[in-house]
Amino acid sequence: MAAVLGIETSCDESAAAVYDTQRGLLAHALYSQVDEHANYGGVVPELAARDHVRKVPGLIRQVLQEAGLRPAELGAVAYTAGPGLVGALLVGASTGRALAYAAGVPALPIHHMEGHLLAPLLEPDAPEPPFVALLVSGGHTQLVAVRGLGRYELLGQSLDDAAGEAFDKTAKLLGLGYPGGPALAALAESGSPDALRLSRPMTNRPGLDFSFSGLKTQVLTTWEQSDQSEQFKADLAHAFQEAVADTLRIKCGRALDQTGFDRLVVAGGVGANRRLRSVLDKMTQQRGARAYYPGFAFCTDNAAMIALVGALRLAEAERDNLAVDVHARWDLTGLAPMAA
Ligand code: KG4
Ligand code: ZN
Repeated sequence: MAAVLGIETSCDESAAAVYDTQRGLLAHALYSQVDEHANYGGVVPELAARDHVRKVPGLIRQVLQEAGLRPAELGAVAYTAGPGLVGALLVGASTGRALAYAAGVPALPIHHMEGHLLAPLLEPDAPEPPFVALLVSGGHTQLVAVRGLGRYELLGQSLDDAAGEAFDKTAKLLGLGYPGGPALAALAESGSPDALRLSRPMTNRPGLDFSFSGLKTQVLTTWEQSDQSEQFKADLAHAFQEAVADTLRIKCGRALDQTGFDRLVVAGGVGANRRLRSVLDKMTQQRGARAYYPGFAFCTDNAAMIALVGALRLAEAERDNLAVDVHARWDLTGLAPMAA
């Protein structure tokens, strides 16, 4: 039995959690910096790093206390080592390494997207590999064939904006504030389904890559040429959400065809979108497959998923290594396969 402390600081969420290999998730805590960055319409990297410095120690103390553990009783300390904002990552990485060293326990640098990818394993009804994973966050839109834990093959990805980025930018140009995804999704509810239709980019040719930047431009031109009424704004939000959900549905269906897998895992912030979930549930059910999601709290950035991957990768934990390596970009497919 081993408990792993997870630390997440890749972007604008400071988080800590404890995951036990036998007992599962023991504690998790999160501080969102969203209000601070909202004034600037997006994440300000330097402010994010400074805020992590202020919040991370308290969050770690809180989860250790809730789990009833002292640092020396941990099996390892896992921290997000990338991809993400370098200054923000460095806070979690140096805190994690220092704490591990001081407590005399090993440390584990974790890939943030592997965290998102395996977050559905935090749920009681967890999917077993092989499965297709759709990673849809603010920085990534990827389709990954998961052949086993740590065995990832990239099937397709966005050639420009990530799906979450498209939600955020579209929300911004409609004046919905930051972060835009949830605000745009809420507005879409009052839009009329038949008012207008936007294109489904890159679906009329084969392949599993995505492009979302054109959709945002389409929204802008349509908005500028409209009467700019509140109802039209809602109609446009609805049409945008439908276009994104439908595009993702088409590509996920193709990825299931191509791999022959019958499980689809949806992870990352946009995976919290209820319309996307209902579209993907319907598509998978119709073909006798099934879609799996993390709980809503574990779709967006959190440390539970980092502690979980740390627990799965415990065998690789490094002792007495004080190197603080972080990666702004990091290829998911180059990770070591986990022992079966
Ligand atoms: O995974 P995440 O928390 O952070 C990254 O690693 O990027 O994802 C954040 C993204 C943001 O772009 C946010 O607008 C989007 O996920 N998002 C949503 C929803 N909730 C969060 N997009 C659409 N609908 C939502 N309900
Ligand atoms: Zn993330």
